[in-house]
Amino acid sequence: MVTVNQQRVPRKRIYLMCSPEHFAVEYAINPWMDVTAPVDTELAVKQWDRLRETLVGLGHEVCLLAPEPGLPDMVYAANGAFVVDGTVYGARFKHQQRAAEAAVHRGFYASPDWRFIAPNETNEGEGDFAYLPEAYGGLILAGYGFRTELPAHAEAQEALGRPVVSLRLVDPRFYHLDVALASVDDGNVVYYPGAFSAATQKVLAQLFPDAIIADDDDALAFGLNLVSDGANVVLNSEATRLAGRLRAGGYTPVPVELAELKKGGGSVKCCIAELRP
Ligand code: ARG
Repeated sequence: MVTVNQQRVPRKRIYLMCSPEHFAVEYAINPWMDVTAPVDTELAVKQWDRLRETLVGLGHEVCLLAPEPGLPDMVYAANGAFVVDGTVYGARFKHQQRAAEAAVHRGFYASPDWRFIAPNETNEGEGDFAYLPEAYGGLILAGYGFRTELPAHAEAQEALGRPVVSLRLVDPRFYHLDVALASVDDGNVVYYPGAFSAATQKVLAQLFPDAIIADDDDALAFGLNLVSDGANVVLNSEATRLAGRLRAGGYTPVPVELAELKKGGGSVKCCIAELRP
């Protein structure tokens, strides 16, 4: 029997990125970071540039945040805030080494286009929050266990006026939600069950019966750290099996190489915050 792929429709996105000009691994705050391993910053910039060009080539708009010396993780722009329908829930970093990034992001949203809400609770923006506009009328998924703290989930719900479902992360290699789960379109997700507690796996299975399930290899290749426009899925080139699974689901995988930035514990999605005006 021939299975006919579903027709996936892309939706134009506005993204925020920050060049890795000052990228380095100067401290280790996740298991992927090794301060003794050499980092080629020039190569990191080249690979990051390819990622930016890829998004523009797919028809998306990319806004830029100016990188600051002394903030080597600023390239992971996803962590600076979480935006839903023009409201910006600001970040408050767990680790002191990244704390100053929050104010830089806040500065970006200092215009009447945005309503900025300063957080009291520890949270790392889109690193631990995902928004699915077509799931249950608009659903926020929120990770906790390593970085973002549980009270931030309630704070985000009050700030953004959308239901927040708390998902417990249990494997330190998957210390942010966005390395274990991603939205593939406005209503569905792809995830790696092993990153979540048994109870959370049940919750995800209940909410997303049609989810794409990733395996260990996909997850360890940072495959889940992807960005999708509903049709094109930009993901780490090492995640070849996941690319196949996505293709079988009717999506178009767009692989990009980001080996240098993996040394900081991140890939595609970490480098990209979605702006939802
Ligand atoms: N070195 C950074 C950290 O540990 C990596 C952040 C990755 N970002 C992400 N959205 N997962 O905080």
